[in-house]
Amino acid sequence: MTLPITKKHTAIEPEQPVRNRPLNDVLEVYISRRNVLLGGLGTAAAAFFPSALLLARDDSNSGGGVDPEAPLGTSILGFESVPTTLADQVTVPEGYSVQVLIPWGTPITGSFPAFDDTNAANNTSAKQAQQSGQQHDGMYFFPFPVGSNSSDNGLLCVNHENITNYLHTNPQAFDASGNRTSAEEVRKELAAHGISVVQLTRDGSGQWQVVDTGFNRRITLDTPMTLSGPAAGSGFMVTAFSNDGRATRGTVNNCAHGFTPWNTYLTCEENFAGYFLDSTESDRLPRNKSRYGIGPAFFGYEWHTLAGEPSETNNQFRRFDTTPAVGATAFDDFRNEANGYGWVVEIDPFDPSSTPIKRTALGRFAHEGCWPSRFIAGQQLAFYMGDDSSGEYVYKFVTADAFDPANLDRDMLDNGTLYVARYNDDGTGEWLPLVFGRGPLVAPAFRSQAGVLVNTRSAADLLGATPMDRPEWTAVNPANGEFYLTLTNNSGRGIAGDRQANQPLDAANPRMYDSGRDDDPDSDGNVNGHIIRGREDGDNPAATTFTWDIFLFGARADAPGVVNLSGLTEDNQFSSPDGLWFDPREDRGIIWIQTDDSAISDITNNQLLAAVPGRVGDGGPATATSGQQTFIGAPLGTDLRRFLVGPAECEITGIDQTPDGRTLFVNVQHPGEDGDAANPTSTFPGGVGTLPRSATLAITKDDGGVIGT
Ligand code: FEO
Ligand code: CA
Ligand code: CA
Repeated sequence: MTLPITKKHTAIEPEQPVRNRPLNDVLEVYISRRNVLLGGLGTAAAAFFPSALLLARDDSNSGGGVDPEAPLGTSILGFESVPTTLADQVTVPEGYSVQVLIPWGTPITGSFPAFDDTNAANNTSAKQAQQSGQQHDGMYFFPFPVGSNSSDNGLLCVNHENITNYLHTNPQAFDASGNRTSAEEVRKELAAHGISVVQLTRDGSGQWQVVDTGFNRRITLDTPMTLSGPAAGSGFMVTAFSNDGRATRGTVNNCAHGFTPWNTYLTCEENFAGYFLDSTESDRLPRNKSRYGIGPAFFGYEWHTLAGEPSETNNQFRRFDTTPAVGATAFDDFRNEANGYGWVVEIDPFDPSSTPIKRTALGRFAHEGCWPSRFIAGQQLAFYMGDDSSGEYVYKFVTADAFDPANLDRDMLDNGTLYVARYNDDGTGEWLPLVFGRGPLVAPAFRSQAGVLVNTRSAADLLGATPMDRPEWTAVNPANGEFYLTLTNNSGRGIAGDRQANQPLDAANPRMYDSGRDDDPDSDGNVNGHIIRGREDGDNPAATTFTWDIFLFGARADAPGVVNLSGLTEDNQFSSPDGLWFDPREDRGIIWIQTDDSAISDITNNQLLAAVPGRVGDGGPATATSGQQTFIGAPLGTDLRRFLVGPAECEITGIDQTPDGRTLFVNVQHPGEDGDAANPTSTFPGGVGTLPRSATLAITKDDGGVIGT
């Protein structure tokens, strides 16, 4: 609980946006850059992007001084590892600089209301809806204008996953019955969630700034959304708000992300379940709720307790109570409201009036990210997705049609096949189709594809998918198309218990051990997490079989060999990998790893590491704890380096770069997470006396060079 802040205002003012910069200026910058870049187009880039300048961002065409013929795994890292630290600051290697951009509350649109970073009481819900939200997470930089390859001008789409103690100065207002009493507070909470679309430009000084040429936008928990794909228009989607089951409002818990060849942003709804109440007895809940954890226990925001409050519009509070109303039908109440969440949501940043689309063909679960395979003309596209919960699964969606850059179908995400992964103990794997009528997905278990998709987890259970150690981000190696996945940690691995926790060791999830951080010598499950990778058979994203190995295991440097399987040292020890991203330039191929850890938080704040990966099968068999056999990639040694350590109690998550590789954007989420406004435990980024705020870092090399090399 929080108390009023009494500290004096010592803050720097948030960066003031330059409003409505004339578009002509911007275009000139773009045209001059484009002319330069066109001359440098590489042949590999041309093969993948036959019409690159009309399609998605092309990151493959500016010089990094690296030989593209160099063998995979050749180290090109050009910085020294920074040490672990608990300092409340951002630490980067010598020769790099950091600019803080769009911290929570930065005015980005509308009347650009100023943010008070010393007293949250001065920041209203109406202001919040025009300012950057809280809890920055996944993000993507779209060069501006659309189809350009600008590294000086772009639309940054940023997820705001959830909210913190610092949103309100005072304790959230509840009455004696536990009901919320302030609609203003609740509106601010709704507005602090969602996505920011914000235009950033860089001037001659190299400093980035917020501008608005009409594209800046906030998307929140109140923004109207369209449902598309097989579940749209089904009975599962009917609510009092949308009797035809084709619309809903808002997006929530937006974690990681993806993008499409037609320059749209994919934002992923992760822990949506905790926002919805159903007070029906747990054993009588339908599986579309119980299998996701929707029920009497929830996050406790209690937004629904303001139902009927005079300022409520369109049941914006009531809808969070999904308990069926007595004597009502789905047309009259919000029993199906939570079926409108847990999806991948497509946003067109270049059309500020567009309605975001929830693409139901990609399944309903705690979506972490949605990373596409390489865009290769004539091949189908795959989108790799994790379901971040203990013992949940890995999915991919494969488009029905091949990618044709000359004839783009912007509804490709409505037509295709969703698969779930089974990892076999022999290093092979299978993609199992979630298609109604195939295998066990028939009546009476399922009666439609809509039912399969709304109940994705239950369908995957029936198919025999492999329960994984909390699937987080996915990434695709631009050099060879291999797909990588972070498995952040799993306290349930190897522990006897209920379904979620009954996960015996297997080759893909081979570790359980005692963390040594408590007095209990029993196993704490997979404490430090690992990163698994796969190679599709025939290097075809549509393949239904693959091979895999484990790229890296997180560990303390001083852990025993059966735990520290990757041989990590002081220079690269890490734990709980979460964010995962490849530098898209295939001639560099650096993989960047971000952590969201509490297992080695006595050693270091969360961090960003960089490595140059090899490929599946470059290592060999290994034995983990309890004698479990597995397969591990070649040791990286000093080719895995710590690039950044964040401020106190933050998570490092969200990463992208400009096409020239010379600005790296990294998000700092929830600095000072364990404190509150009365007792803040971080002062990032404003300094003493200011509220800690999530923010985007723009990292540049002082010599203007390519980041990481
Ligand atoms: Fe939002 Fe799974 O991290
Ligand atoms: Ca995450
Ligand atoms: Ca996480």
